[in-house]
Amino acid sequence: MTLQAPSPETDLIDPKRFRQVLGQYPTGVCVVTALQAHDQPAAMVVGSFTSASLDPPLVAFLPDRSSASWPKIQQAGKFCVNILGADQEDVCRRLASKAADKFEGTAYRLSPLGSPIIEHSVAWVDCDLHAVHEAGDHYIVVGRVHDLEIEQGGLPLVFFQGSYGQFTPLGLASPLERSATSV
Ligand SMILES: Cc1cc2nc3c(=O)[nH]c(=O)nc-3n(C[C@H](O)[C@H](O)[C@H](O)COP(=O)(O)O)c2cc1C
Repeated sequence: MTLQAPSPETDLIDPKRFRQVLGQYPTGVCVVTALQAHDQPAAMVVGSFTSASLDPPLVAFLPDRSSASWPKIQQAGKFCVNILGADQEDVCRRLASKAADKFEGTAYRLSPLGSPIIEHSVAWVDCDLHAVHEAGDHYIVVGRVHDLEIEQGGLPLVFFQGSYGQFTPLGLASPLERSATSV
């Protein structure tokens, strides 16, 4: 596939408009965690988490180059992605802050690879660092999945147009129930 060089017009896109338009797309909310030396936990909230490959099992997220937490996670060489639940907005707000002690008061245990699993998360994905690609003012970080589990299950926290919310199905039955009953 041939990639085109960026045209001068792409540089003219106003950052505010970029955020506003892209904010029309909802994301889930995850906390990427790692354990540093002396068992100090590091964490960053991301809306950019996605699955990337089934074979081999890969996932990805996009840390900002200015993130103070990303270098700590990179240094650990492994991380756990915690999918937050709709009732974990407070955990999200605390861990998205720049406070030095932001992990204080957040209960966790260690994953099989040794990264923090946050209590009451919907699910977790335990990875080691597979690749880091440059992407403008962000990186694309690819993790190789070693283990994963539904923890609490339930509704995920959703971020949309700058606000937190939760998923509401359009029909009375969920998509899974609908496909099971349709003929
Ligand atoms: C809903 C939500 C989604 C976010 N998504 C990302 C993301 O995908 N990548 C990123 O670098 N920061 C993201 N952030 C910002 C980080 O969580 C955090 O505020 C930032 O990394 C600053 O903390 P740090 O310097 O300790 O890393 C998001 C924040 C929120 C509230």
